[in-house]
Amino acid sequence: MRLRGSVVMITGAARGIGRACALRAAAEGADLVLVDVDGDLSEVPYSLGSPAQLEHTADLCRKEGASVLVAPADVRSAEAVEAAVELGIDRFGTITGLINNAGIGAPSGKPAHEFTEQEWQVMLDVNVSGEWRVLKAVVPVMLRDGGGSIVNVASTAGLVGYRHFAGYVASKHAVVGLTKSAALDYAPHDIRVNALCPGPVRDDPAMDGQMTAVVADALGISYDEQEAVYLESVPTNALVDPLDVADAAVWLVSGESRRVTGTVITVDSGFTAR
Ligand SMILES: NC(=O)c1ccc[n+]([C@@H]2O[C@H](COP(=O)([O-])OP(=O)(O)OC[C@H]3O[C@@H](n4cnc5c(N)ncnc54)[C@H](O)[C@@H]3O)[C@@H](O)[C@H]2O)c1
Repeated sequence: MRLRGSVVMITGAARGIGRACALRAAAEGADLVLVDVDGDLSEVPYSLGSPAQLEHTADLCRKEGASVLVAPADVRSAEAVEAAVELGIDRFGTITGLINNAGIGAPSGKPAHEFTEQEWQVMLDVNVSGEWRVLKAVVPVMLRDGGGSIVNVASTAGLVGYRHFAGYVASKHAVVGLTKSAALDYAPHDIRVNALCPGPVRDDPAMDGQMTAVVADALGISYDEQEAVYLESVPTNALVDPLDVADAAVWLVSGESRRVTGTVITVDSGFTAR
């Protein structure tokens, strides 16, 4: 129960890595504020997490014994994010950990110069400005209450390039930069900020994850072909599961990592070691 007494806010909690983080945090004794968008975005060419999926995550966490607040918010809206944080404070009094995980993988699938202004903007607005907005809303609470831990979910795309994913790659490199600067800003206040870079993650049906299917769609290949490409790319011959990423996220929000800040941790089956 490494998170007993903790209150952890997790964005993008309806499914995928966010759901896995919620389950692991609940099993470690945390109380949870679970956030996800309340409907699809017209600029994003696939379905996002639904309110029913967010409620399902919450139910699974309650079965683990967690107290859970569901607080829908689009991370593109500062007002919605601030309202979610306020609901969390009303319910639990504080927020001690943030897993800043909401993100989109498309529009993608073309050379950099072919993205429209709107396609470029939505990627940055959700993936990096969204994480900044949530950090901006949560940090005053952590400053008031004497510390905390923030995990910004980036990607191996925050470390290396991917062909036909320039917007996604740019957004995730920016998340790494945000993380390092924020770690320096808040180190004197005992607020740690770290980036987590998952590598080729398989879509786990138990988590309703979609991202590898989204990547395959963007590239015009099948899910199985995309998994084969991923497997070729890793030295371990095994893809990452969302729960593998969640284990690292839980460690980063727990006191076991109390001297870890400003760092970038890959969970990528060795992909970036080559
Ligand atoms: N799965 C992978 O292969 C992989 C690899 C590296 C990094 N990541 C990153 O991990 C994070 C989670 O991805 P995932 O694989 O679970 O994908 P996913 O699509 O299954 O889940 C992402 C969640 O974020 C939510 N979201 C999207 N836009 C939002 C918005 N504007 N406001 C609030 N919520 C929003 C979605 O509704 C969804 O529930 C993302 O930041 C992603 O970039 C994923």
